[in-house]
Amino acid sequence: MKKIGILTSGGDAPGMNAAVWAAVKRARSFGMTVLGIQDGYRGLLERRIDDLTQRDLSDIMHRGGTFLGTARCLDMLTEEGRGKAVQIIQEYGMEGLIVIGGDGSFRGAEVLSERGVPTVGLPGTIDNDLSYTDYTIGFDTACNTAIDEIMKIRDTMTSHDRVAIIEVMGRHCGDIALTVALAVAADYVLLPEVSYETEYDIDNLSEYLLDQKKRGKDSSIIIMAEGVNWNEKNRAEILKDCLTEKTGLDIRATVLGHTQRGGQPSAFDSRISILMGVRAVELLHEGLGNRVVGISENRIIDLNISQALDMPQVFNEELYNMARTLAH
Ligand code: F6P
Repeated sequence: MKKIGILTSGGDAPGMNAAVWAAVKRARSFGMTVLGIQDGYRGLLERRIDDLTQRDLSDIMHRGGTFLGTARCLDMLTEEGRGKAVQIIQEYGMEGLIVIGGDGSFRGAEVLSERGVPTVGLPGTIDNDLSYTDYTIGFDTACNTAIDEIMKIRDTMTSHDRVAIIEVMGRHCGDIALTVALAVAADYVLLPEVSYETEYDIDNLSEYLLDQKKRGKDSSIIIMAEGVNWNEKNRAEILKDCLTEKTGLDIRATVLGHTQRGGQPSAFDSRISILMGVRAVELLHEGLGNRVVGISENRIIDLNISQALDMPQVFNEELYNMARTLAH
């Protein structure tokens, strides 16, 4: 293989730049050229494609976001869009493609592989919602950022004897919420994977907070994943109003939002991004496509895209129960 393409797709994640940097460096060591595709599949369909030069690579690997740009592209769901993507890939002489993104981006990669374009996917999403890999690129940084913010909120909540409801990201997956809840020793955590008896587990939660108050604990932290009641807007505010009414406590709601997606990647994210970027190129160099790269038991792995996408999401109930036990 002499020429490959690379794109980032879906929500950006800290470490995407490091993965691109590593992939380009490794490709060069094989004498391969790398074309950078702007704004994911959308840029591919619009032919926004250029050689990645040394200058493009300087000073990007430590940065958050993605210098290639990213987008969510509905056209890749259509037959016409998919056909056009293959045609443009051939037109530019790309013999392989690296796609960094989440499950939606991998669906596109799967289609391109089926149509003869050797494609390798790297898991780039802060949500950690791809079951075939222990960690996705950006998850660790997002957790660290959330923890920093929560500790600041904790300072002011403790000073005022208040209860904080803090919503963290995670559309369908509570991994960020559960990890940060453990790390900040939160009093309560609400996850999309758990089915509660009442909305937002409101009865248990009220009882718990009042009991804490009786025992002399005036300030508490409740972590809530965005994916709890995904269809609802202002989830944290709704929960705050319900809880205030039930308990009479002084409660504040904060949505951490996109702060969690930015920033310099952590050491862990930089490391896995670089290792995965390198592996992706090595796979293509060996003539292998239709693969995704991940990490399992501290080793970089790769497997068939469809097989990876079919793996069911396994909820870590043990960790959830532990978080609850430690909170009491
Ligand atoms: O998939 C990553 C993620 O940050 C989710 O946690 C969140 O629900 C979503 O993206 C937000 O997407 P957008 O930036 O398009 O609003």
